[in-house]
Amino acid sequence: MADEMFWRLAEADDALAINALAARSIRALHTGSYDDAVITVAIEHAYGVDWQLVHDRTYFVVELDGALAGAGGWSYRETIAGAHGPEDPPGNPLHPSSHAARVRAFYVEPGLTRRGVGALLLRLSEDAAREAGFTRAELTATLPAVRFYARYGYLPTGAYVVPLPNGLSLTLESMTKRLAQPLAMDAV
Ligand SMILES: CC(C)(COP(=O)(O)OP(=O)(O)OC[C@H]1O[C@@H](n2cnc3c(N)ncnc32)[C@H](O)[C@@H]1OP(=O)(O)O)[C@@H](O)C(=O)NCCC(=O)NCCS
Repeated sequence: MADEMFWRLAEADDALAINALAARSIRALHTGSYDDAVITVAIEHAYGVDWQLVHDRTYFVVELDGALAGAGGWSYRETIAGAHGPEDPPGNPLHPSSHAARVRAFYVEPGLTRRGVGALLLRLSEDAAREAGFTRAELTATLPAVRFYARYGYLPTGAYVVPLPNGLSLTLESMTKRLAQPLAMDAV
């Protein structure tokens, strides 16, 4: 499948399509891991494009056979979760010598999982963060994504709870990894 995959940096014009992809991905792939009410509210309030990543040129899209298959990226800003709009203030920048880069906002089209799209996005993100001087990465994984990140060396460090409207909350898992070595890729 690898030679049918194409990646590029996300552009502002991609935001609508990526938000729709994120909603489809979360709805299909989180059923059974989170309550339906949490999924519905989280799609509206917690998931989607973080415009700051697009602006910072740290957000990627992957296409399979010419169709949008996934999106994901990394950040040198302190924000670790959430979908930030174009008008929101930028998060404070991090310093590679003392902070971990953030791995952010991974969504794969539900019919195109387990083909290496997520792994390619992760390799692109880690390579770029490493190139920027970071030696560690941190992320907050959705519960069904923990095994994906664990597959590439991320270790769980504890629960991270995102408050949602209507008294609901979204439980994620904080995970961390040293970036000293290049990502071992046998799937892409
Ligand atoms: C998590 C996610 C990004 C993974 O994307 P993907 O393209 O399916 O992942 P890949 O095909 O690159 O998987 C690579 C390897 O990771 C592991 N992996 C991926 N998904 C897994 C799962 N659901 N369960 C267990 N292991 C998994 C496997 O080892 C897999 O290799 P294999 O298929 O040869 O066994 C995707 O499932 C997704 O979009 N989930 C919904 C949105 C979400 O929760 N995003 C995470 C936000 S933190």
